[in-house]
Amino acid sequence: MSDYQAMQAELTGAIAAASNLDALEALRVAALGKAGSITGLLKTLGGMSPEERQSVGPQIHALREIVTAALAERKAALEGAALEAKLAGERLDMTLPAAATPRGSVHPVSQVMDELAEIFADMGFAVATGPEIEDDWHNFTALNIPETHPARAMHDTFYFPDANAEGQKMLLRTHTSPVQIRTMMSQEPPIRIIAPGRVYRSDSDATHTPMFHQVEGLVIDRGIHMGHLKWTLETFLKAYFETDDIVLRLRPSYFPFTEPSAEVDVGYRQEKGRRIVGGNGDDEGHAWMELLGSGMVNRRVIANCGLDPDVWQGFAFGVGVDRLAMLKYGMDDLRAFFDGDLRWLAHYGFGALSVPTLSGGISA
Ligand code: DAH
Repeated sequence: MSDYQAMQAELTGAIAAASNLDALEALRVAALGKAGSITGLLKTLGGMSPEERQSVGPQIHALREIVTAALAERKAALEGAALEAKLAGERLDMTLPAAATPRGSVHPVSQVMDELAEIFADMGFAVATGPEIEDDWHNFTALNIPETHPARAMHDTFYFPDANAEGQKMLLRTHTSPVQIRTMMSQEPPIRIIAPGRVYRSDSDATHTPMFHQVEGLVIDRGIHMGHLKWTLETFLKAYFETDDIVLRLRPSYFPFTEPSAEVDVGYRQEKGRRIVGGNGDDEGHAWMELLGSGMVNRRVIANCGLDPDVWQGFAFGVGVDRLAMLKYGMDDLRAFFDGDLRWLAHYGFGALSVPTLSGGISA
């Protein structure tokens, strides 16, 4: 066995036996580093005669290549084993019960939207959505609010500086009612939807924020009348406020997209500075509070969506979600909803794991 072969056997043996990456690196430096044994051999080539170099050179180069390959192979093996060990150490048992005190909480607006979805799902309503950046036609014109209508001024609309490709003015939707239009244009009746979401108006004080939340309701079917509307709202409010003692008062009103239109008041009483929903507003110690807008969908709106108003009728309603949350859970300043104050969220927020269900209790 030549000296080179002996060296090769010794080095590859040591490399195969290296038990970790540090030991392997020490071996690499000892053989191939600046002062390494193979490096030293390579340096001797310069001082050799051409004949000697021709016979010894290939052997030294072969030694270097074999040792380099052995180092790489062992390194890959050791790294693979290290990764396996790391993965094994990081394994999670997904069947373990959740932490007893989960961090974070569900915002009251999300909670109320979940409650509404649950309540209306039980009555056969699906949840529909639409874009928050709307065009003028869906937000106003199709809802029978023409260009010159004073309601446009009342909505304090945020407009975008540029029109869209069709020359439509673009805006932040001022209400969830455009989802009525989008739903009627994309679905065949019968339709039963609620549409919760963000809406925007240029308005700000203790009871108004530039962004707030509404939920829209829409039913389109044959032979729908105001009785269906009243029953639906009563059933919804009883489930939401978790009391059967809900008395509604429908007051004639006006909305361009409904005819006839009704504003819906609910009876309440004052207790320790808080409004408690329930009871007849005309009874002793009670009063009426305006809660939502509603009505029979205007024939013109149905026709604007390409449906025949002689065949299809329906009702619609719209209500402020933040307002519903404040009434049920007792907050008094709307602005706090959107401050992102963790103390407020810790106080008013809901457990991430307590999902509202009709069977289990709607407010969880
Ligand atoms: N869109 C109205 C608003 O934001 C609320 C409303 C009233 C919606 C009556 C309706 C409705 O669907 O029928 O002021």
